[in-house]
Amino acid sequence: MSLSQLQEKIGIVKEKLRKAGSVTVLTGAGLSADSGIPTFRGAEGLWKNFRAEELATPEAFLKDSGLVWGWYDWRRTIIAAKEPNAGHYMIAELEKLFSRFHLITQNVDGLHEKAGSTNPIELHGNIWKVRCTRCGQISFNFDVPVKIPPECRSCGGLLRPHIVWFGESLEPENLEKSYAALANSDLMFVIGTSGVVQPAASFAGMARSRGAFLVEINPEETAISEVMDIALQGKAGEILQLIVNS
Ligand code: OAD
Repeated sequence: MSLSQLQEKIGIVKEKLRKAGSVTVLTGAGLSADSGIPTFRGAEGLWKNFRAEELATPEAFLKDSGLVWGWYDWRRTIIAAKEPNAGHYMIAELEKLFSRFHLITQNVDGLHEKAGSTNPIELHGNIWKVRCTRCGQISFNFDVPVKIPPECRSCGGLLRPHIVWFGESLEPENLEKSYAALANSDLMFVIGTSGVVQPAASFAGMARSRGAFLVEINPEETAISEVMDIALQGKAGEILQLIVNS
């Protein structure tokens, strides 16, 4: 995409933004890439070097909770040292401009809230939260490394990461909130996601069928690029600054 093509597309997006009454943003791992957090499916992606079935399933945790916790602890160590980037901050700025604004994220790193976004719908959980496998209590745990085995303060049960693993269902409340947002969006941004993990991969199509104008921000073409009205090829932070700040 040439610079003039990009500028023309950004002009259209800004016009849509001016006219929009409600905005929804869906983010994925690519948004945090510029903060130095690895994505899942790129050349350097986590799933290139690790096997999801050995680390991110309930069966893996039952088999070897220490191994699973070791992997999450390694990721917590990486994330703890990272800060939000321009993309996170621009999304937090965008929120201030709309009374009807929803942020749905597949990211578990907590950087949206750190950048000032309020109440992001964390579809896949949060790496700083733990859940008791016995009593179900959810709490924050910012220990890096986590004390192994981590124990519930209430009942002494084994704590697990509060993450939605492969084969598990998303929290119904998060799905309901997401569907409500998608049904009432004039404009939807889909940022930094490869669009292959369901149900988030279907969200853009759902919003479009209810009348939303779709804008993708991603350096690459994705599995869902073809449902977009406009695809802006580039890094999330750089493109969002052009849309929100200029
Ligand atoms: P992926 O790793 O599948 O995709 C990351 C996307 O970000 C790719 O399309 C990249 O092209 C894009 N990207 C890379 N750098 C970028 C940048 N600077 N700006 C914008 N985009 C950039 O990540 P997700 O789609 O989020 O689930 O993955 C979905 C889920 O799969 C994750 O939530 C995770 C994983 O298994 C769980 O852990 C439950």
